[in-house]
Amino acid sequence: MAQPEQWQLEGSAAELYERSLVPAITALWAADLVDRAAPLSDERVLAVACGTGVVARSAAERMGSGQVVGLDINTGMLAVARPLPRGAGPCIEWHEGSALEMPFPASTFDLVLCQLGLQFFPDRSSALREMFRVLVPHGRLALSVFSAIENTPAAKALADALDRHLGPGASATKRSEHSLADADELYRLVAGAGFRQVTIHTTTQNIRFPSSKEYVRLQLAATPRRKMLVDRPEGSAAIDPDVRRSKPVPQSRERCNLIETAIGLLLPED
Ligand SMILES: C[S@@+](CC[C@H](N)C(=O)[O-])C[C@H]1O[C@@H](n2cnc3c(N)ncnc32)[C@H](O)[C@@H]1O
Repeated sequence: MAQPEQWQLEGSAAELYERSLVPAITALWAADLVDRAAPLSDERVLAVACGTGVVARSAAERMGSGQVVGLDINTGMLAVARPLPRGAGPCIEWHEGSALEMPFPASTFDLVLCQLGLQFFPDRSSALREMFRVLVPHGRLALSVFSAIENTPAAKALADALDRHLGPGASATKRSEHSLADADELYRLVAGAGFRQVTIHTTTQNIRFPSSKEYVRLQLAATPRRKMLVDRPEGSAAIDPDVRRSKPVPQSRERCNLIETAIGLLLPED
C-alpha cells in the first residue's frame, strides 16, 4: 500500500498557512474539537501534529491552568507556532518529533487532541498506540480527520482541476487530506489501539474565502502543493476557472469525522 503523504511544508509556506488557512479553515475545526473534548483546568493536554498550534492555543485558552504541549514533526510549523501570542491559560511547550515515537513517558497526559493529522501518518496504528501509551488510564482522545473529498465541493473541484491541468496524480496531496474518510475504518483503528467508548460524529462547517481565485492561490501557496506554483505556473493559472465554474467558493461546505474516546480503566498493557 502507498505510504500516506506526511503533508510537510517548507520555508515561508508555514507562515502563510498560519495567516490564511488557519483562520479560514483549521480554527473552525479546532473550536469544535476543543469544545467536544472540553479540557479542564489543571489537566495535561497534548496536541499531536499541532502544526502552527491552533488546537494547543485553543485548549490553553479554555483551561485557565494546567499544562499544554504541542508536538509536530515539521520544524517550520513549530517555528511559526513558538512566537505566536497566546491568550489566557497555561504556557504551551512545543516539541519537535514524530507521532509514531513520541518523546514522552507513558501516562503523561489526561487528554490527547489530534486535528487533521492522523490521515498523514505513515503508520496510523502505531501513532494511535503511542497516543494510548502517553495517556493516563482514565485519559481521553479527541481527533478529527476530513471525510470523503466528495463531501467538500471546493476540494473536489480543486483536485480534479489539478489532475486535468497538471497531469494525473497532481492531486495526490490534496486527496491524501481525505484519505481516512471511512468512519468504520477509523473506528477499527482507534478501537484496535486499545481505546474504549469510541464515538464518531460527522460534522459539517462552512468555510469562506474572498474569491475562488484566493482559495486556489492559498491551497497551492500555503500547502505542500507550493512546488507546483514554481514548476508549472501556466498549469496553476488554468485551475482557477475550473474551480470557479464549480461554484463551491467563496463559501464551501467541509466535513470532518470527529472521534471522541475514553480509555476508561483499560491499561496500556491490557
Ligand atoms: C494539515 S496539517 C494540520 C496542522 C494542525 N493540526 C492544524 O489543524 O492546523 C498536518 C500536520 O501534521 C504534521 N505531521 C505529519 N506527519 C507527522 C508525524 N509523523 N508526526 C507528527 N506530525 C506530523 C505536519 O507536519 C503538519 O503540521
